[in-house]
Amino acid sequence: MTRPQMPNAYIPGTTPLPPEDEARIRRRATLLGPAYRLFYEEPLHITRGDGVWLYDRDGRAYLDTYNNVASVGHCHPRVVAAMAQQAATLATHTRYLHDGILDYAERLLALFPPELSHVMFTCTGSEANDLAFRIARAATGGTGMIVTDNAYHGVTLVTAEASLSLGPAIAPGPTVFAIPAPSAANYPEGIAGGFATAVTTVCAQMAAQGIKPAALVFDTIFSSDGVLPDPPGFLKPAAMAIRATGGLVIADEVQPGFGRTGQHMWGFQRHGVIPDMVSLGKPMGNGYPTAGLVLKPQVIAEFGTNARYFNTFGGNAVAAAVGLAVLDVIRDEGLMENAATVGTAFAEGLRNLATRHDAMGETRAAGLFLGTDIVNNGQPDATRAARIVNDLRQNGILISATGPRGHTLKIRPPLPFSLENIDQFLTTLDRVVARL
Ligand SMILES: Cc1ncc(COP(=O)(O)O)c(C=O)c1O
Repeated sequence: MTRPQMPNAYIPGTTPLPPEDEARIRRRATLLGPAYRLFYEEPLHITRGDGVWLYDRDGRAYLDTYNNVASVGHCHPRVVAAMAQQAATLATHTRYLHDGILDYAERLLALFPPELSHVMFTCTGSEANDLAFRIARAATGGTGMIVTDNAYHGVTLVTAEASLSLGPAIAPGPTVFAIPAPSAANYPEGIAGGFATAVTTVCAQMAAQGIKPAALVFDTIFSSDGVLPDPPGFLKPAAMAIRATGGLVIADEVQPGFGRTGQHMWGFQRHGVIPDMVSLGKPMGNGYPTAGLVLKPQVIAEFGTNARYFNTFGGNAVAAAVGLAVLDVIRDEGLMENAATVGTAFAEGLRNLATRHDAMGETRAAGLFLGTDIVNNGQPDATRAARIVNDLRQNGILISATGPRGHTLKIRPPLPFSLENIDQFLTTLDRVVARL
């Protein structure tokens, strides 16, 4: 049986585990079925989180350098208090008048360029992208979706079929067209121009098949494509290229949004592009499932006239209270600024380490979203990357790997990460890589 793998997934039967964990894993398989995966050769049994720390059942602390959902810190007391208070008062949906959703919408939209002046609420990033795809089709009359060749955009039928990182088991949708991700390796003549030309070329291929473009959709940090933030501005010509064919620009901010990239609240702002729609998720509720789609009014005019939208839990009163608390914490604790300064120091530290270790290649970063390539004789080495990820886990530090070849360390801690946390990370990584 072939099982679609993700980098450093636990593979049953390969690592001797304590009997209680073997039993737990069997129970999971019995109850949850075969599609779920666990992180790490030796899976973790986490029972508590606090700030940048996760604790296992024995109370051992792990430095969380991976979770961008608990972006303002695990179990942040202000977020938990807002959630509990609203849940104890009222938990209804968007078909009643309620000020919470309006107060939150106002605060959220104030963080966007004025052209993006509507927000619709969902529960997950997948739903936000799915909604964006539906609206793009209605607004343009087209169906063609352009994605990068190792993209991930979600679990619904349409978004999974636009997520080539899921591997060959999930066939791309009939109107999904992939282009090479915007890396220097894919576009040696220049990322900005090359990526825009790829958009134009693929639109011509669509036209030859009688398909009209609906949208170009990209994660603005290209996380599953290996973390590709630079050079800032490279998305601008691609946005112009899709618009020249009548298609829209959808920025997926599910990973980089809410201040993680440091200089800006949203990844698209690094590129000087104003998308037509922006999907939000993961960090939006710091663990409470809330997500959304911010959009230009003109793109929803057609869809909104002919279709109605109701999402039972999207934008519920608790979600709005939580979302507002997350924005308060980001502002009051200066977390975006922290992502900028600590992220710069982190990238520098990784690059310094690479001068002493041949196994460490390029580091690409924006704020607290970092990717470091692991190589062997200069060639991508996913096995080494997985070794490092697992050894870090054994040494109390959590990260993962990403990219089309699985050789990029994906480093993405909660935003209150400190210089002291970086020291611990780099000292441990130094030791782990030296032992390869
Ligand atoms: C870039 C991107 N878009 C969309 C999604 C889907 O979000 P969710 O898992 O909340 O449905 C993810 C999730 O990993 C993601 O990384």
